[in-house]
Amino acid sequence: MQVKVAIGTIAFMLTMIVLGYAALREPTRLDEFSDAAQGRSIEAGGVLFGANCATCHGVDGKAEECQDPSSGEPVPCTGLPLNSYFLVCGDRPQRLEDLGWEGSKEQYIQRTISAGRAGTIMPAWLDEFGGPLRPDQVENLADFILNWGDEEFCAQEPSSFAWPESVEDFRAMAEVEAGDPENGVTVYQNYGCAACHGMPEQEGSAAVGPWLGDIAEIAATRVPGMSAEDYLYHSILDPNAFIAPDCPAGPCTDPSLMPGDFAFRMSTNPQDMADILSYLMGE
Ligand code: HEC
Ligand code: HEC
Repeated sequence: MQVKVAIGTIAFMLTMIVLGYAALREPTRLDEFSDAAQGRSIEAGGVLFGANCATCHGVDGKAEECQDPSSGEPVPCTGLPLNSYFLVCGDRPQRLEDLGWEGSKEQYIQRTISAGRAGTIMPAWLDEFGGPLRPDQVENLADFILNWGDEEFCAQEPSSFAWPESVEDFRAMAEVEAGDPENGVTVYQNYGCAACHGMPEQEGSAAVGPWLGDIAEIAATRVPGMSAEDYLYHSILDPNAFIAPDCPAGPCTDPSLMPGDFAFRMSTNPQDMADILSYLMGE
């Protein structure tokens, strides 16, 4: 009898040890499982991105290299850069602050993909809103986009080019040459200005921001005491510094829908600013 009890007790203890060990291992197994699921989601998102989004947002989401989907010819990118420090890094990326978005960056990205952006060429992608994609595919795309914001990418502080207070001081900098309006056209298209403002040569071509064909005269009247060129310079570096009154779809919204990251993006090549200014000033 006593032997049976002893065997029973030992068997029970052994079972508990085995179960306890399995229970302890469970969280690691869950982690590995969700890492693998996350990896698969990012991969699926990459395929969807290449097929649906790169025509406007460019190779690697940088809005630098875009191709016409049917001919394969290079075309100017009409979407915003998504592979951007200001969209994917930190808990509250600058882009969310600029737009006054209260939710998380995951929600912002999923929401924009799902519903598109009214008044722009960004289409709605979720089936519920008439798009071609399922909810899990929208999640895959958001996972893919957010994966650009890895530790290494986000560790690089935004470039430290110190934009001078006034356009006169900027123009006087040794490393800035006189603006080249012809290159300004290319730069204007490469930064995606045309997607919102249309082309200055074509009246009525603006979709989101004011048409800039007559901005050289109008800019001089916007802020008392501020030169036209200084107004343009500040409008590009900090869209929220002044809000233009009239946008194509009605009054311009405050905060501005214009991305706040041009100061950062042009830091690698400040000459782009000089060229855009010459172009917009009609030089
Ligand atoms: C026809 C061109 C076009 C296509 C195709 C397109 N987009 Fe866009 N997308 C835009 C434009 C233009 C904007 C900027 C809208 C605005 O003015 O706010 C935008 C904005 C976005 C934003 C918000 C970016 C920000 O900084 O606010 C995300 C995210 C996005 N697109 C993801 C996608 C994904 C994912 C796809 C593919 C499923 C896609 N887009 C396909 C043109 C496009
Ligand atoms: C996502 C859309 C979008 C993009 C891209 C964009 N803008 Fe804007 N922009 C706007 C909107 C909306 C306004 C009006 C609100 C405001 O004043 O910020 C505006 C305002 C301006 C103004 C002031 C216009 C006025 O009538 O006072 C200038 C100048 C300007 N943008 C230049 C640029 C240049 C140059 C680029 C490219 C480097 C650019 N924008 C890219 C949306 C955009």
